[in-house]
Amino acid sequence: MRDNEFEFIRNLVYERSRISLGSDKRELVSARLGKRLRATNLATVGEYCQLLQAPNAEDELANLIDVISTNHTFFFRESAHFDFLRAVAVPEMAARAQGERWAQFRVWSAACSSGEEPYSIAMTLAECLPSWPWRIEATDISHRILARAQAGIFREEAIAKLPVPFARAHFRRGFGPQEGNYCARPALSEHIHFHQLNLLEGEPPFTEPFQVIFCRNVMIYFDRETQEELVDRLARRLVPGGYLFVGHAESLIKLRHSLKMIQPAIYQRPPNT
Ligand SMILES: C[S@@+](CC[C@H](N)C(=O)[O-])C[C@H]1O[C@@H](n2cnc3c(N)ncnc32)[C@H](O)[C@@H]1O
Repeated sequence: MRDNEFEFIRNLVYERSRISLGSDKRELVSARLGKRLRATNLATVGEYCQLLQAPNAEDELANLIDVISTNHTFFFRESAHFDFLRAVAVPEMAARAQGERWAQFRVWSAACSSGEEPYSIAMTLAECLPSWPWRIEATDISHRILARAQAGIFREEAIAKLPVPFARAHFRRGFGPQEGNYCARPALSEHIHFHQLNLLEGEPPFTEPFQVIFCRNVMIYFDRETQEELVDRLARRLVPGGYLFVGHAESLIKLRHSLKMIQPAIYQRPPNT
């Protein structure tokens, strides 16, 4: 890949997703573009850059963001967040619900990837919130990964790592073409609502505030200015006293923000703000 081609791809990716690709990511970008060259039957990155500039390049731009972004995730990743949800956030919010006239406990899984995160939240809430309605909004920039999340189908190896009562209660084994897969039961998946969304662009397709927002392992790809903008956008979507969970590698320490740190990777919108 030539210097000008890397610059072109890097600017385009930043413009579209705010993912910031430093020069140390050149090899990685080159490897990932290889997948798109094969898929589009093009021989060189130069030709691929031309394709991206064509008037009807929207679909290919989405594919480009797809191959560049990292979708790695797993059930109950960073389990301290789920412990905190169960032991602190839910009881605290449940105690306030009547006074605040909250009809639902609302959680946003921002950058939900293939669904393991919102399904982990759902399993936690199904266990500890039996008598208060709850709803999860799950969003990601990638149409492809979101389609996987929405299908609610997971490999046996992933389900095998869940506590047995969770696996039994919430997933059923697939047969025939779905051999080796497990599908989420509707009683769980009906609580999760998926939407394609770029976290830095436009407004999300929901307006009611959230008691808890998970935005984990995505900020790490953004530059500082973008991280500050994102934290500000998310903070405004929380109820006063609501919680923001970020990835453990994504401390907000060096950022300007309005939130209070509760414990590592857990922040709270100050009550009365
Ligand atoms: C590493 S995964 C994190 C998944 C999950 N939150 C977790 O912690 O396991 C990062 C996700 O962020 C998504 N993403 C990247 N840029 C985004 C943006 N600007 N808006 C929304 N999602 C974005 C990617 O598509 C990817 O699925």
